[in-house]
Parts: sequence; C-alpha cells; structure tokens
Amino acid sequence: MKPVRIGILGLGTVGSGTVNVLSRNAKEIARRAGREIKVVQASARDLKKERACPTKDIKITQDPFAIVDNPEIEVVIELIGGVDLAKELVLKAIANGKHVVTANKALIAIHGNEIFQAAQNKGVMVAFEAAVAGGIPIIKAIREGLAGNSIEWLAGIINGTGNYILTEMRDAGRDFADVLAEAQKLGYAEADPTFDVEGVDAAHKLTILAAIAFGIPLQFDRAYIEGISKITESDVEYAQAFGYRIKHLGIARRTEQGVELRVHPTLVPERRLIANVDGVMNAVLVKGDAVGPTLYYGAGAGAEPTASAVVADIVDVVRTLTTDPNNRVPHLAFQPDALSDLPILKMEDVKTSYYLRMQVIDKPGVMADVTRILGARKISIEAMLQKESEVSDDSASVIILTHRVIEKNMNAAITEIEALATIQGEVTRIRIEQLNKEWD
Ligand code: NDP
Ligand code: HSE
Repeated sequence: MKPVRIGILGLGTVGSGTVNVLSRNAKEIARRAGREIKVVQASARDLKKERACPTKDIKITQDPFAIVDNPEIEVVIELIGGVDLAKELVLKAIANGKHVVTANKALIAIHGNEIFQAAQNKGVMVAFEAAVAGGIPIIKAIREGLAGNSIEWLAGIINGTGNYILTEMRDAGRDFADVLAEAQKLGYAEADPTFDVEGVDAAHKLTILAAIAFGIPLQFDRAYIEGISKITESDVEYAQAFGYRIKHLGIARRTEQGVELRVHPTLVPERRLIANVDGVMNAVLVKGDAVGPTLYYGAGAGAEPTASAVVADIVDVVRTLTTDPNNRVPHLAFQPDALSDLPILKMEDVKTSYYLRMQVIDKPGVMADVTRILGARKISIEAMLQKESEVSDDSASVIILTHRVIEKNMNAAITEIEALATIQGEVTRIRIEQLNKEWD
C-alpha cells in the first residue's frame, strides 16, 4: 500500500518531536497503522533556523498555506499554535478534504464547535489528543474507555509549566521568575507564558475535557480562571502545616444546577495521589458512576511526550481513513445532535471549602470580629492558626480553614472582614477540595 503523506505546520518543540518519533519508530508505527507514514512537507517561519529533527527528506516552506493546499497531502498536522492563523489553516485544510491533527488547545477550546461542524460536513477527522495533558491519552480514555459511564466529575493538574513552578518553589525554594524562565527554555511554556501562569492554558484544556465528559458544547468563555501568580511561599508552608499541598487544578463537575467549570489554585490533602504529582507531570482524576475514580498520569509538556499523543492521533486517523465518516468516534464523544444544554454555573454559585489568610493587628477582640462575620454567613470554621509576624511586633498572620460554603457567601464575608479596621490589606483565599470518592 502507498504511504500516507502528511504535512506538518510548525517545526518547533512539538513539530520537531513529532518528526523524531515518526522517524525513530517508523516501522512499529507502520505495523500499527497498516501503512507507512511519510512527512513530505513542513512549514516554519525561519528557514535558516537549525531544527531539532532530521529534515533532509522534508520539503520545508515558509508558506503554511502551501501545505494545506498541497493535493498530495492527506493529513495536516497543525503545530503552529495561536488562534487566528491556525483557525484559517485548519478550516482551509478541512475545506480541501484533508484530515487534521492538532495539539492546539486554544484553537479547539475557542473555535472547536465551528471546526468540528466543518469537519463533519466534509466527512474528515480533527484529532486533538495532544491538546490536553501532553502525553497522557486522556481524550481517548474519557471518550472511548469510559463511554459506559455517566461522568460525575474530573479534576486535573493540566498545565505542566505551572506544576513545575509550584514544585520548584516548594521543594527548592526557587524564585517564581527563574523557574518560569527555565520552563520556557525546556520548551514547556506557551508562546505567551502568562497563559500558563494565569490559568488560561489550563482553562482551554478543562473546556475540552468538560465537553467530552458531559456531552456539552465547548464553552471556554464560561470558565472561571485563576492562576498561580499570587501564591506565596507562606501559603505553601501554611497549607503544609494543615496537611495539604497547593496544586493548580482544573475542575469540571456535574451538579443538579449545572456544570462547574473552574481553574484555580487548590489545597488538596497531601495523602491524595494527585497532591504528589510534581514537576512537569500532569494527572487527571476522573470519577465515573460505574468505574469509580480513575487516575491518569504522565508528562504534561515537552517535545516527545507531546509528540507521542500527536503520533497516536496520526495512527488513529490513518486506521480510519477508509471508514464511513458516520461510523467514526464523534469529535466530542457524544453524537453531534445529542449534545446537552446543561448550563455552566457561575463561580459565585459553586460550593467549596476555603483557606483564608489575613494579616491582623494583634489585639483583643480581632478574632471575635472575624468569627462573628463568618458565623453570620453560616460559614463554619474547621481549623485556625495564628502566627506572629516576622516583620512587625503588633501584627500577626491568621489562617482559617472553613467547611463548605457557597462562594457568594464567602465573597460577602471577605468584603466585610477586609473592611475591619484591624485587618491589614486583602484576605488571601484559596479553595480547598477533598477530592473524595463521594463529593457532596
Ligand atoms: P513552538 O513555538 O516551539 O513552535 C511553533 C512552530 O510554528 C515554529 O516552527 C514556528 O516557526 C512556527 N510558527 C509560529 N508562528 C508562525 C506563523 N505565524 N506562521 C508560520 N509559522 C509559524 O511551539 P510548540 O511546538 O511548543 O507548540 C506548538 C503547539 O503545540 C501549540 O499550540 C502549543 O500550545 C501546543 N502544545 C505544546 C506543548 C509543549 O510542550 N511545547 C505541549 C502540548 C501542546 P519558527 O520555528 O521558524 O519560529
Ligand atoms: N504550556 C503547556 C504546559 C504545554 O505547560 O502544560 C502543554 O500543553
């Protein structure tokens, strides 16, 4: 049989990794796919740049449209990143009847509904395993492996750069900016690294996971997003004193009122496996009604781990090239005409427990005021710690852990506490999740 001819848009970290894996494992991959896979053309901005992969058999162009318009090419691999140009290229490839593989979570989270509709109309596939959690085959696991379940919730560490930064800050006491620069050098970070540290990248990925878990359209603009840039060393230490670790989690949970879709730093009990996922590793915990909790772990970023997922998609596409488009696994796991209109909950309607840290003037009656405000909103305290300030004799840090409460009640309580004359600055709030089998 003739080889399948593919074209790669972008020869950076993931593009080069993909060429390396395809060439190193060519024989095994062909045995799996049933056909040899040949990279015939690739694009990059700078033709003079040295590439981290062999390129002598690949025609390299500066014009990515030359690839999507190349009649020889059956499958286009989009590894440029960004949204606008990538969308134009992917839609053009689809219009030209080509299948697409992409690692671009921003593209899928924001324009996926339109892209999948276009692909369905044209009878081509758009595969995106590498878009979530790097090398972990989490899309396949949820979309196919858990197809018999009603998924109740999922929670994941889904940004490798952020987890790398948090781990190095905690274990080596390293500076935030230094670790971020290292993550960029290692090829983990996004072109705009604020996407990693402010939670946007994780929200893109969570949007995709929620869609395939619950059979809802992609709704990135409804996700609640908070990053890791405000976490201090003291919060990491206090969390540890209470038996927790701070992890940046993406959480999607189905409730009777709607779907929670939220990305934020979270205190997780240190005995949970996911609390011990360190460095660039990612992990996603998925609770299905039949299977119970399941955990998926692996490298969340980097050239070859991501290439592993890209190549798996290429093999999937090649295996199904000749199947009837109506009999393929649907892009978003559920049949396109069977998506549900479950609403996404506003963050103020979400219920969680909280870690609160505040700087107080150390005098009688201060704690009574704080506990009165919490009590008036029916917020019950689970634990409390007071630490003398290292910088001033008359102030102290107070850390409070609460039981679960609706976020809008906590917002109101925090506003009232911050207005007390005895409270200095803002109250730091980090949500706590137990990630129990049972989540009330
Ligand atoms: P890189 O920046 O390393 O590579 C991007 C490639 O695209 C480069 O070859 C670059 O050319 C080319 N390119 C960029 N912009 C343009 C443009 N405007 N026109 C033409 N070519 C362009 O990115 P990554 O490989 O890290 O990421 C690629 C995609 O994979 C992104 O969507 C990213 O989110 C996703 N991803 C990345 C992971 C990682 O660990 N890095 C993991 C999972 C997903 P040149 O080299 O000449 O500059
Ligand atoms: N910048 C992303 C991360 C790449 O660090 O997780 C993988 O999607």
